[in-house]
Amino acid sequence: MERVNQICRHPLWTESVDKIRELERDRIFCKHDVAHCLDVARIAYIENLERGLEIPKERIYAAALLHDIGRHLQYLEGLPHDRGSAMVAETILVDCGFSQDEREEILSAILQHRTQETKTKEDLAGLLYRADKASRSCLFCQAQKACNWSQEKKNLTLKG
Ligand SMILES: [Fe+2]
Ligand SMILES: [Fe+2]
Repeated sequence: MERVNQICRHPLWTESVDKIRELERDRIFCKHDVAHCLDVARIAYIENLERGLEIPKERIYAAALLHDIGRHLQYLEGLPHDRGSAMVAETILVDCGFSQDEREEILSAILQHRTQETKTKEDLAGLLYRADKASRSCLFCQAQKACNWSQEKKNLTLKG
């Protein structure tokens, strides 16, 4: 997991995390913070184990830690954050020693994490999509009524 730890120490990653935290300080809806990224990583890894998908752990953690890292660009410049995150992630992945093959898979997953068609995929993109949505505890959320997620999309029960 050395390269994953390198991501967390990368100045572009830490600076982006700080900007997003500041921009979301008064946000009542789900945040895009480190806790969210770690929830996504762990949920995705659990599904990976349970279903025997055998996707390497570092790829899962890298995708999860980077999938929302361009969120500040959406707030500040109106750039959709799947694209903004992929842009920021590419530099970080190169600097942290991820191969071209790994980068392509991780960046593709990030670019697809807001696309409905990704939901049923058996690859890293599908894993990231499902874990991202499953990480949100709508059942216990105080902003549940004001949230624009549909009732079907909201996680209103715990699933085994
Ligand atoms: Fe996102
Ligand atoms: Fe997310």
